[in-house]
Amino acid sequence: MAAERIDGKAFAEKLRERVGAQAAEFEAVAGRKAGLAVVLVGEDPASQVYVRSKHKATLAAHMESFEHRLPADTSQADLLALVEKLNTDNAVDGILVQLPLPDHVDEQAVIAAISPDKDVDGFHVTNAGRLAVGQSGFVPCTPLGCMMLLTDRLGDLSGMEAVVIGRSNIVGKPMAQLLLDANATVTIAHSRTRDLPGVVRRADIVVAAVGRAEIVKGDWLKPNATVIDVGINRLAPVEGEAKGRLVGDVDFAGAEGVAAAITPVPGGVGPMTIAVLLRNTLVAAYRNAGMDPPENSL
Ligand code: GUN
Repeated sequence: MAAERIDGKAFAEKLRERVGAQAAEFEAVAGRKAGLAVVLVGEDPASQVYVRSKHKATLAAHMESFEHRLPADTSQADLLALVEKLNTDNAVDGILVQLPLPDHVDEQAVIAAISPDKDVDGFHVTNAGRLAVGQSGFVPCTPLGCMMLLTDRLGDLSGMEAVVIGRSNIVGKPMAQLLLDANATVTIAHSRTRDLPGVVRRADIVVAAVGRAEIVKGDWLKPNATVIDVGINRLAPVEGEAKGRLVGDVDFAGAEGVAAAITPVPGGVGPMTIAVLLRNTLVAAYRNAGMDPPENSL
């Protein structure tokens, strides 16, 4: 039987609607809209697409969107000065500096300059530390979105075997922390893992976040596993195609016959990231205004 497709697009739309309604309530009680500032340095085409969709989604969710587009040769000092200005701007609840930054800018220094209370990406060491020790802070959007899809489908994850493939600060590490907090038994696999197929075969839950097209094969999976595919890779175009197809880190056709459920690419994890970003921004707005965020936004 073919695996059920986990519809991240539909889930994200519902989340965005709910956050939009809560953002309208926030405006009614706070007397101002929640605000998200997005900083883009340079002209990376993929980043431009992301920033444009964040802007549209923010406005649609009843929030204020502040876009700062800076030339590729912007100095680190100027970028840090802008971040500092946003840190002290009361109309700004969340700050997102789009990555990657140009090579001459120290990414870690810029992330470190963002106020942890406005760090809706959850990349600041303070928020990474809070997640590691189980304090409330901001959790990176993509892994939090994956977690929402997993708990929606599986309920209680206690005792389940989870394998996260990839150890990035943005996805792999926080994903492992979240699964651990949910009482799963967690393995983090990566490019140096010996016998990756053998490790993956143990997993009730597989989260693939390596950024290599279709590396995880169907016959690596335990029957009835739940598969979350974070990868977005563009294949080289074949004849008749203007652009190559977008595929995940999992060989979808092979996995579909083995897994119980799997996120498609596109339309799985991707749409969740912006929806969770809006959710994090709303939570930041409530906290920055000295109020508790609504219960069901957490
Ligand atoms: N670049 C790719 N994904 C992200 C993200 O989630 N946040 C930021 N700031 N940059 C990114």
